[in-house]
Amino acid sequence: MLNVENLQAAYGQSQVLFDISLRVGDGELVSLMGRNGMGKTTTIRTIMGLLGAKGGQVSINDRPVTGLAPERIARLGVGLVPEGRQVFPTLTVRENLVATAANRLKRADPWTLERIYTLFPRMRERAGQAAGTLSGGEQQMLAIGRALMTNPRLLILDEATEGLAPVIRQEIWQVVAKLRAEGQSILLIDKNLAVLKRLADRHYIIEKGRTVWSGDGAALDRDQAEVRGYVGI
Ligand SMILES: Nc1ncnc2c1ncn2[C@@H]1O[C@H](COP(=O)(O)OP(=O)(O)O)[C@@H](O)[C@H]1O
Ligand SMILES: [Mg+2]
Repeated sequence: MLNVENLQAAYGQSQVLFDISLRVGDGELVSLMGRNGMGKTTTIRTIMGLLGAKGGQVSINDRPVTGLAPERIARLGVGLVPEGRQVFPTLTVRENLVATAANRLKRADPWTLERIYTLFPRMRERAGQAAGTLSGGEQQMLAIGRALMTNPRLLILDEATEGLAPVIRQEIWQVVAKLRAEGQSILLIDKNLAVLKRLADRHYIIEKGRTVWSGDGAALDRDQAEVRGYVGI
C-alpha cells in the first residue's frame, strides 16, 4: 500500500528528515510515534507531496510517487486528516464533506454523506452549520469524514486525538477501530501508547528525522524501556 524508504526532506537549508523508512500493508493499521518536533508531520507532508523529498523514495501500491503533485498523490488514494484539522471554516459541514468528492477514487462501496452521518451522528445534526463554529472534537470528526469521502485506500491521521476531551477521544478511537475492522488501511499518529498498542498491527518510532524503532505489540512489550525513552513517557 505505502512504502517509504530512506526518506530525506528539508525546509530550505534545514534538513529535518534524514532516514525515514516505514510500510503500511493492505488493511493494516500502523502507528507512527515520537516526541514533538521529531519529524512526524514532516514525514506525512513529504509522503503527500506537500514538501519535496531530498532523497529516498515513497511508493503507493508499488508506484513511485516522489516528485508528483499533491493532488495526484491524493488521487492515488491517500486521504489525510491533517494536524490541526484544517476544515474549511466558512463552509458548512455538508459542504466540507462534498468539497473533495468530485475528484475522488471510484470504488464498489463508495463513502456517502449518509454513511458519514451514520459514523458520526453529530455531523448530521450539524450539517448546515459553518465548520468554524464547531468544537475541536467535531472539527476532527468532520476532518475524518472529509478524508473518507475521497474513498481513500490509505487514511492518514496526523495527531488523531490531540487536544480533545476524553469522551470525544473515545468516540474517535471507536471509529478508528471500526474502520480498521472494515479493512481500511490506516497510518496513525498519536501520543496514546496504550491505545495505539491495542489498535495497531505494527508501530514505528521516529527520533530526529530517523526511524529508530519498529515492531509489533509483542516487540513493544519486550522493548518497553527503550520505547518509553523515545516517546517520552
Ligand atoms: N515550516 C517549517 N519550516 C521550518 N522548520 C519546520 C517547519 N515545520 C516544522 N519544522 C521543524 O521540523 C522539525 C520536525 O517538525 P514536525 O515534523 O512538525 O514534528 P512532529 O510532527 O514530530 O512534532 C522541527 O524541528 C520543526 O521545528
Ligand atoms: Mg506533528
